[in-house]
Amino acid sequence: MRHFLTLKDFTKEEILEIITLGIAIKKELKSGISTPYMQRQTLAMIFEKSSTRTRVSFETGIFQLGGHGLFLSNRDIHLGRGEPVKDTARVISSMCDMVMIRTFEHSKLEEFAAYSQVPVINGLTDSYHPVQLLADYMTMMEHHHADNPVVAYIGDGNNMTHSWLMLAAILGFELRIATPKGYEANADIIAYANALAQKSGALLTFTHDPKLAVKGATVVTTDTWASMGQEGEKEERLKIFEGFMVNDTLMATARDDAIFLHCLPAYRNQEVSESVLEGRQSVVFAEAENRLHAQKGLMVWLDKQRKLQ
Ligand code: CP
Ligand code: NVA
Repeated sequence: MRHFLTLKDFTKEEILEIITLGIAIKKELKSGISTPYMQRQTLAMIFEKSSTRTRVSFETGIFQLGGHGLFLSNRDIHLGRGEPVKDTARVISSMCDMVMIRTFEHSKLEEFAAYSQVPVINGLTDSYHPVQLLADYMTMMEHHHADNPVVAYIGDGNNMTHSWLMLAAILGFELRIATPKGYEANADIIAYANALAQKSGALLTFTHDPKLAVKGATVVTTDTWASMGQEGEKEERLKIFEGFMVNDTLMATARDDAIFLHCLPAYRNQEVSESVLEGRQSVVFAEAENRLHAQKGLMVWLDKQRKLQ
């Protein structure tokens, strides 16, 4: 059974196949064709954290594929009241065709998947946000920025950083990460990515200097300085991350045709200036829309794999 928990379980060919499928389904949608690839199938969507894009894209996506999405927040299901993950997984997967989960600990998602009869998709954990990277890479492809990209990630070493590390390490491109001291990406994940990079030819570099990372980059990206669950650290982080804002001065050192990506939600004049977010290089809203298309590709791909078994 194939799940989509992190990118590290996927080959370069598979990742590109999923994105290419998403692009094909996007083309169909834009030309008014709606093929019911997942007719009468249900997608359970478990949310233990807030969401705008993930919820709307998965719910709309499964509907457009001919299926139905169930939005299950912690307040709605017994998981939030202590029903074990393994019980929840067996019950939900006995009725639904696919499950998407947004939660805190990555191990909770893994436990769910271990007990699930149907494919499980990671809709964000504290460790990874792989569906976002499908949309990000799709956006890079559409903007002709996927050939030998030099990606600079500026900010917190978080779930987005870890997913960028996996994508770069598997696809084999250059990724430069600039974080404040003490806010680096997880050391085990870096080691894993470095091992993959040896085979793929990816170049992964780490610095505490945003200018070093952005110089000559073709893609510049960042993320919030305080992720969901870190709200209590926000004030302290605002001080520590000073100097890590992607602003016009920093963007000016990237290649002139560089694009700016952000998974959103963005905090203006914190991790990114209003001028960069709304500026000529920003493709963040095309990127957000691509969540819908990339995830439709993913759901159809996982469904096909399941039927092949
Ligand atoms: N980028 C992203 O996952 O957004 P949401 O938190 O709104 O789902
Ligand atoms: N790193 C952020 C991403 C939000 C989509 C978080 O986990 O809150």
